[in-house]
Amino acid sequence: MPLDDLVAAVVDAVSLPVVAAGGLSTRDAVAHIIAAGADAVRIGTAFVATDESAAHPAYKAALIAAAGPQDTVLTTQFNEDWPDAPHRVLRTALLRAELTGNRSITPPNRDSRGDVSGMAMYAGEGVGGVNKVRGAGARTRELMAAVS
Ligand SMILES: Cc1cc2nc3c(=O)[nH]c(=O)nc-3n(C[C@H](O)[C@H](O)[C@H](O)COP(=O)(O)O)c2cc1C
Repeated sequence: MPLDDLVAAVVDAVSLPVVAAGGLSTRDAVAHIIAAGADAVRIGTAFVATDESAAHPAYKAALIAAAGPQDTVLTTQFNEDWPDAPHRVLRTALLRAELTGNRSITPPNRDSRGDVSGMAMYAGEGVGGVNKVRGAGARTRELMAAVS
């Protein structure tokens, strides 16, 4: 179900503030979902690729390299102590994990050592809108720029 249809349905059904999440990575996407009735947005992937994020540089670089949702995949590969919880990751990380057998849910961070390419690189379907590592403040201002 498209996020804007979901938000519109939820806004109709509840009398609480509604926070939209999932695939929001550009100013136009944020403005669109606010116009659809969301009161706020929750953003994950776009903040992984910020200077302040503790994500491993290779994880940030892989997010920047990903062109769009086709470079992500919904999987249950990374299920150690976390069964039956589908999660979306970069396809390259999943392919590597299938070879190495890695099932840890821990994403690669700046303290990770060795080959991190098969670690859980979580990524939303808006990853194609993340084209540069930026400061978190600059990214926030950019994302909110079209919200009046
Ligand atoms: C690195 C990373 C780790 C996450 N860990 C969790 C988690 O442990 N539990 C959870 O419910 N959501 C988790 N999320 C999902 C976020 O809370 C958020 O809902 C989601 O990232 C929003 O979609 P977006 O990434 O397309 O912006 C994670 C997301 C990322 C990018």
